[in-house]
Amino acid sequence: MNDILRSALAELLAGLPPKQAAGAVERLIANYRGETPTTAPILRDRADVAAYAAYRMPATFEAVRSALEAFAEAVPDWTPGSHVDVGGGTGAATWAVTATWPGERSVTVLDWAEPALALGREIAAANPALRDARWQRARIGSALTLDSTDLVTVSYVLNELAEADRAALVDAAAAAAQTVVIVEAGTPAGYARVIEARDRLIRAGFRVAAPCPHSAACPIVPGTDWCHFSARVSRSSLHRQVKGGSLAYEDEKFSYVAATRLPAEPAPARVVRRPQIRKGQVLLDLCEAEGQLRRTTVTKRHGDLYKAARDADWGDAWPPDGAESGGPVS
Ligand SMILES: C[S@@+](CC[C@H](N)C(=O)[O-])C[C@H]1O[C@@H](n2cnc3c(N)ncnc32)[C@H](O)[C@@H]1O
Repeated sequence: MNDILRSALAELLAGLPPKQAAGAVERLIANYRGETPTTAPILRDRADVAAYAAYRMPATFEAVRSALEAFAEAVPDWTPGSHVDVGGGTGAATWAVTATWPGERSVTVLDWAEPALALGREIAAANPALRDARWQRARIGSALTLDSTDLVTVSYVLNELAEADRAALVDAAAAAAQTVVIVEAGTPAGYARVIEARDRLIRAGFRVAAPCPHSAACPIVPGTDWCHFSARVSRSSLHRQVKGGSLAYEDEKFSYVAATRLPAEPAPARVVRRPQIRKGQVLLDLCEAEGQLRRTTVTKRHGDLYKAARDADWGDAWPPDGAESGGPVS
């Protein structure tokens, strides 16, 4: 994780009695297990928000950063000059944008939970690229309009909205931005929200730059599987306290779509499951430019491509630039 963010969150936690922090996290987990969409903010006060920031922000940051990095590979010469983060909460996506494209830009974070915005502003003081960010109250709904911007991010928000509000948000983002990046939990429900938004963005004239190598329909038969990826997140002392165990990290599963009106070169194919490494061969499950899923086996006789397959990770573009095949891949 970004070192400045990690120390800003550690400092935040140092100011909270451990019992209070653990209690707020437990309340938060219980709330998120409850009915969504909600009619009022779940993040009601500073303890809720501090718990959210310490407990969830490292994971949402890493998920958004992975999505943005995949997008940046498809549009390598582009840097956003302005960014609006809708349902931005404590600003995880703003940190992920500055980690992907360093430097200053106009940044606006919109959310209906004032305590989240206040804490986001406080944490962002540690990041020079976010010093001038605007943290504004806004309710997502049919009245939402967004100022024109290069990039809109919507991370871990769609699942908290009713269907009409999800549609209004995606339409407002499509009307305002050149590029829209949407991230949700890597669950069947999160994936379904992402696909719904992806279809809407394509209908609005956007092209998918990542993760899909194409802008055709998703080849996954609804209900049989869900497209998702994984980002490694270091665990904080609060994680260990709440969840027990001694693992130094956990894997955040997420689904996403990054769509744009810019000229983009999506990956030729993407690795959509953890590669299986066997003796002398690697099995890769790929989503391909032709809009279909295919398993390929890369063996030692493929030379450099085999070396690349051994290094390939779930979520990577395939084949990586420069990897050459010694023979046909089945
Ligand atoms: C799970 S948090 C995600 C926060 C942040 N985007 C992240 O990735 O860490 C969901 C956020 O959406 C905001 N939200 C939910 N419904 C909203 C609505 N109708 N209008 C504005 N914000 C909303 C919540 O207040 C909360 O900050």
